[in-house]
Amino acid sequence: HKCDIGFIGLGVMGANLTLNLADNGYRVACFDLDQTKVDAILAKDSAERGDKPARLEGCNSYTELLSKLKAPHLIILSVPAGDPVDHVCNHLIDAGIKADDIVIDTGNSLWTDSVEREEHYKSKFIFFTTAISGGEVGARFGPSLMPSGNPYAWTRIEPVLKAIAAKVDPETGKPLETYTPGQPVTEGEACATYIGTMGAGHYVKMVHNGIEYADMQLICETYQIMRTALHMSAAEIAEVFRRWNDGKLNSYLMEISAEVLEQLDPETKQPLVDVILDKAGQKGTGLWTAVSALQVGSPAQTITSAVFARSISGLKEERVAASEILKGPHAPSLSDDEKMEAVHKLEQALYCSKICAYAQGFQLMATAANEHGWDLDFGEIAKIWRAGCIIRAVFLQSIAQAYEKDEGLKNLLLDPFFADQITEMQSDWRTSIADATMAGIPCPAMMSALSYYDSYRSAVLPANLLQGQRDYFGAHTFQRVDKPAGKKFHLNWSDPDRPQVAIKK
Ligand code: 6PG
Repeated sequence: HKCDIGFIGLGVMGANLTLNLADNGYRVACFDLDQTKVDAILAKDSAERGDKPARLEGCNSYTELLSKLKAPHLIILSVPAGDPVDHVCNHLIDAGIKADDIVIDTGNSLWTDSVEREEHYKSKFIFFTTAISGGEVGARFGPSLMPSGNPYAWTRIEPVLKAIAAKVDPETGKPLETYTPGQPVTEGEACATYIGTMGAGHYVKMVHNGIEYADMQLICETYQIMRTALHMSAAEIAEVFRRWNDGKLNSYLMEISAEVLEQLDPETKQPLVDVILDKAGQKGTGLWTAVSALQVGSPAQTITSAVFARSISGLKEERVAASEILKGPHAPSLSDDEKMEAVHKLEQALYCSKICAYAQGFQLMATAANEHGWDLDFGEIAKIWRAGCIIRAVFLQSIAQAYEKDEGLKNLLLDPFFADQITEMQSDWRTSIADATMAGIPCPAMMSALSYYDSYRSAVLPANLLQGQRDYFGAHTFQRVDKPAGKKFHLNWSDPDRPQVAIKK
């Protein structure tokens, strides 16, 4: 009998998604340009299944793939973002794909490419997207999914995506996980929800990654302060991270950071992290988030700081040379009690900074949604990030609750729960940053988070002077606090006694 789904692209993510679909009872026809990958997945499936009937079928061409599928066809792509997506789509057209068939792109595609593709392929088939987070393990046992596109297509795809998605206990917001092949979690709330029309899902995934960059960088800065100012070893820091992971900072990123810090190098038996080169890579999604924030004018300085922190890490040789020339203060030596106190304060500092990073991400999504006409449900978005994805954290349950209480919440910082938390912890946050500054330890993301908080809560900012400067050199005009809003004025700065001119729009 025919297969339910066609799968193209059997790299690590694709192979694991295919096995996940099969675990959930779907019969899948698989294809990859590299036939060894097709053979490998069939072998893996039969090893997992033992003597039970196979759930996968291999194909050696696009035409064979289509011939093996139930109509209307449902095809999922897991190929690198960019040209390969169009390459596959064009081959499917040549192979005879029909107008009612659905192709789902699961890559980290740029959201504007997705918008163009939906339009471009409209007369040939329905192009739909599902952004995915969760890495290899997520793909195999339950990722977080951010689908978007044609709402009719969603009705056909929904059961499939909800089946393979990560699941959450709705009461606690904690992931319901099992990692046994053939035994998917079938209870709980699925981390897959329709995000909106085309592009919205990939936009939301892009912001997820921007937040991911900020969250990772904040943890790294905390580590840097601990190892440099507090002279703690990797093992000691791991222990603190493990403890924090039992509290309000509980998250996947916290957990894996502890694991990375604990890992010994099999060769030298020293902490592996101490021999990893301090030069960060990036594939671009954090950068896209930063660019988008700049374009729509939404303040996201902790996210952009995290991207720049990766850039400056890349200048390793320059930094090494500069370290010989540029002077800074020495970290003072601290007693054990002072160190314990500093560690306690850092926990609050990390938490407050994290709230700001998430506030920026949600604010950016709201601004972009307004601009692009998406009707984003932030409570639902927070909910599908509670499990499966890289930024999964207990904390997202509180974000979901904040938006459920107040759909129109302007900023996460204004939610009474988060506002109270920051009020309570901000003195520790400020002290941690001040101490790091006095010890000459960079913490750009943490500092930018605090600046974001302080800027957002300032009724008065110095942009009045800025407008004066702009009007002085470029007659760019200013508004006055004592005149009707929107009315623009220009002063003749070289002859100020001349009346100020009200400028018509
Ligand atoms: C996820 C990750 C995933 C990937 C990023 C890493 O949500 O599963 O975000 O998409 O790991 O592409 O990005 P960088 O290579 O830019 O760090």
